[in-house]
Amino acid sequence: MKQAKRILEDNWTGAYTKPSPGLYPHQWNWDSGFIAMGYAHYDEKRAMQELRSLFQNQWENGMVPQIVFNPEALGHYFPEPDFWQVPDGRLTSGITMPPLHAIACLHIYEHAKSTSRAPDFLREIFPNLVSLHRYLYLNRDPEKSGLAYIRHPWESGLDNSPAWDVPIGNVVVDRKNLPPYRRKDLEHGVPAEQRPSDADYDRYVYLVDLFRRHGYREDEIYRECPFLVQDVLFNAILCRANRDLSEIGRIIGEDVTEVEEWQQTTSKAIREKMWCPECRKFESIDLVAGEHIHTATAASFMPLFSGAASEEQSGILYESMNSISFCALRQGNCFTIRNYDMTREDFDARNYWRGPVWININWMLSQGLKEYGYREKSDAIRRDMIQLPIRFGFYEFFDSQTGKGYGAPGFSWTAALFLDLIYEYYERDPGYGKRTGKRHALGKKTILNLDRKRSHAGSSDPAGALMASITGLRDRFCEMGRGLVDYEAMKGSPEYERYRDIAGSLRFFNPKTLSPPEEKKAFWVNLYNTIVIHGIVELGLTASVTEVADFFINIAYNVGDYQFSPDDMEHGILRANARPPYRMSRQFAKNDPRRSLSVEEIDPRIHFALVCGSRSCAPIRFYEAEKIDLQLDAAAESFVNSSEVIILPERNKIFLSQIFHWYGKDFGTREAMFSFLMLFLADREKSEYLEEHMNDIKVEYLFYDWNLNH
Ligand code: GLC
Repeated sequence: MKQAKRILEDNWTGAYTKPSPGLYPHQWNWDSGFIAMGYAHYDEKRAMQELRSLFQNQWENGMVPQIVFNPEALGHYFPEPDFWQVPDGRLTSGITMPPLHAIACLHIYEHAKSTSRAPDFLREIFPNLVSLHRYLYLNRDPEKSGLAYIRHPWESGLDNSPAWDVPIGNVVVDRKNLPPYRRKDLEHGVPAEQRPSDADYDRYVYLVDLFRRHGYREDEIYRECPFLVQDVLFNAILCRANRDLSEIGRIIGEDVTEVEEWQQTTSKAIREKMWCPECRKFESIDLVAGEHIHTATAASFMPLFSGAASEEQSGILYESMNSISFCALRQGNCFTIRNYDMTREDFDARNYWRGPVWININWMLSQGLKEYGYREKSDAIRRDMIQLPIRFGFYEFFDSQTGKGYGAPGFSWTAALFLDLIYEYYERDPGYGKRTGKRHALGKKTILNLDRKRSHAGSSDPAGALMASITGLRDRFCEMGRGLVDYEAMKGSPEYERYRDIAGSLRFFNPKTLSPPEEKKAFWVNLYNTIVIHGIVELGLTASVTEVADFFINIAYNVGDYQFSPDDMEHGILRANARPPYRMSRQFAKNDPRRSLSVEEIDPRIHFALVCGSRSCAPIRFYEAEKIDLQLDAAAESFVNSSEVIILPERNKIFLSQIFHWYGKDFGTREAMFSFLMLFLADREKSEYLEEHMNDIKVEYLFYDWNLNH
């Protein structure tokens, strides 16, 4: 974290942050958006300043330029103002970039610590944001298609993406008529093989020359420009930015009718016009040729970020993203997600936008995946985005296979988005106290299974009946792959009603009849998992189990003669009546008759089977006495190989889920805990590393995500 902050500090100019020290010495448009999102967590003033500087250079027509030049740093980049020659002698380039800004502003507001500064900032910037979006709809969509076009590959932010190979081919350059120029991007130590080619540069320069010849008049450029593309990434960002801009408007009480209309039209246009049913992907549209551009870049997944993809389309995108082309889950030999399909012949692992992994693209995709419910994939991307800079440095882009960093070192958006990820997930107060909740007190214990008459269906064998009923609930309401539960739909369903009947019959079941330890474990783990769901549904929780005070203490089932809260089941029974974390005494007091029900030995694997209705828990499964040993192994294995356990040999560090902190004793000594991890780790190299460094590896604990798993 320190290193990431130092990079931003070193690149800070006093008014904004340059993307990197040598190669990019000025202010870049969407870079500032990403950078502001990192600052938002620890220096909101600077986050606001970053965007203010950019918008101070907004053109009268609303366009926010791609580059704002620093007059003191001229001479190290090409093309600079002398070449652009934009109207009014402005020190900016004459093109724009993906309009990320409303997204960044909302992000700043959401993370702001001060209560007045952020709304003031939103009020100040709202008109500028609206004017930028209006510019795009008026000037970049003359046919009112709902999609804005870009007129230079630099406007996409993905300069030499393979997606531009065909449309840039329309740009026929006669070198004799091209103004003389010298590339300066190759003078900063980045090898030419990692940069765009000379032929590309000729075309970039040709287009700039055309714009200046037309005095940057949009209508003329639209008629003359040989490169006009409706880009998926640009429009997906615009669509998402409209959504966030509406939200900003609502927060400050402005009319957002126009913005909402933009959002709906663009969302529909992306879904309908950019989707290629035969190719099963979203594609950019070459307006000059009037055709879709068939290619295979990560930009085609971006409608997940905008929310424009339909459920069905999202499933198709997911399949493609989660394949060897882009790096699949548990594939093992790659960092996810490359910018281009690696099975293509012209895939290039080192060249700029033609193959490597970029943090900004992955950051947007991991959010999109999360919103569509692809939690495991989103989580895996997040883990890789954190690992890459820690292990290989804060580079501009990375080799998907080896992780090696390429392009500019000390790259600002890599550092800023890394900070965003760390703050968002791993640095929040991990205190167990969160679990006790603060907002609404339940007041007294809520017994969830009192209102039912004895149910014949479940009375003779409640364990078996429970299993049948839970399996029914799970099949209908849990998405196993995604680890999510649809609590809303569950309420009032016949399956849920049946479950409540069976839960009612537990009052007539004697838990002493469960004798082999396997039977006990299976019964209580299952009951814990279902009472949590039952509690969430009955109490109508929508965001987190921490919405009510002491959720795990204050809900209970009557089973036979006694009452059991989730804490009783977990600590009293399954943890052999151990002391709950951060409490002074054991769960069951000395003469509590429930003590006789406790298992004799703690099996630490149960921690990966208990589902506490939160995102950091294991996904729900049903446990059967006869198979429980294998099932608990599987639960532990999947947890140990998820992003809840991150081993970084380069830093001699291991990041572990809070579970290992709270329940360290259940695993035994430090050595025993490491042996446990080694037993389940799939990555042999990491496991061997752990064995060798058991005594000196530094352990840190991850943030625990208490948000509901819905
Ligand atoms: C390159 C990238 C672009 C980025 C700029 C500054 O031009 O392609 O996305 O904004 O560098 O980092």
